[in-house]
Amino acid sequence: MTDGFKGLAGTVGIVTGAAKGIGEGVARTLHAAGMKLALADVDGEGLKALAADLGGDVLVAQLDVTDGKAVEAFVAETEKSLGPVDRLAHIVGIQRFGKVADLSEADFDAMFAVNVKGAFLVVQAVGKRMIPRKRGAIVAIASTAARTPRIGQGGYCASKAAVAQLMCVAGMELAPYDIRVNCVSPGVTDTGMVQRLMATMPNTDVVTRGDLDTFRVGVPLGRVARSVEIADVVAFLLSDHASYLTMQDVVVDGGAALGA
Ligand SMILES: NC(=O)c1ccc[n+]([C@@H]2O[C@H](COP(=O)([O-])OP(=O)(O)OC[C@H]3O[C@@H](n4cnc5c(N)ncnc54)[C@H](O)[C@@H]3O)[C@@H](O)[C@H]2O)c1
Repeated sequence: MTDGFKGLAGTVGIVTGAAKGIGEGVARTLHAAGMKLALADVDGEGLKALAADLGGDVLVAQLDVTDGKAVEAFVAETEKSLGPVDRLAHIVGIQRFGKVADLSEADFDAMFAVNVKGAFLVVQAVGKRMIPRKRGAIVAIASTAARTPRIGQGGYCASKAAVAQLMCVAGMELAPYDIRVNCVSPGVTDTGMVQRLMATMPNTDVVTRGDLDTFRVGVPLGRVARSVEIADVVAFLLSDHASYLTMQDVVVDGGAALGA
């Protein structure tokens, strides 16, 4: 167990999107910090493998975050089994590609259903339980795509801007109950999502070096992020070290947005 994140040990938390990528990194980091975790994902097999690797002391649930009844049942079951949920890391997100002139209605709807409605349903189910207890910390993953436009990612960029603003409003509404709500906006992070993005690119050097033809920014640190580097920031924001931080969108992008 690591004790680097003040106040996390022994508290109950939920991680959504935990089977792979950034969510898996967050689950591993919070588990190492001594939290009691419930992990959710549509990928039930991935969750089982992670739970076994963590030693089996986590609750896992196959869950589609677009299903409000299922989200409510998952959070209720988590509280029944583990106790009051004081921390939420909502990581789930999907990405589909297509210029605005071409993107299919189905792909646009899917991104808004999973990324925006999913965040709304999960934060609502957890947040309303935190209110009477007057404590809690919530982190959702937005993206640098919420602020930096990217060709072929109009639906994704718009959905992530919606997530960031939804969390900002939730933060304002929940602040009177001492519940903090923040976003983390990763830049390019080495996960399956980015491998699928790179598969659409003729030359993947543009990810770190930038590309004038597509107005794509590079990464001053010269490399993509590792999931654990995003997870550490999520854990910090959930911890008591961040007790005066709320309604923020913390950009973790190796400098890609040039600090703007
Ligand atoms: N990888 C990046 O470069 C990057 C950059 C910025 C933001 N993000 C965001 O970080 C988050 C994690 O991305 P990642 O790169 O780890 O992606 P990923 O595809 O590796 O993992 C996403 C996880 O979410 C799960 N999931 C998808 N739809 C779901 C649903 N409806 N219900 C429950 N679970 C569902 C998947 O099964 C998967 O385990 C996403 O919100 C993504 O938009 C990623």
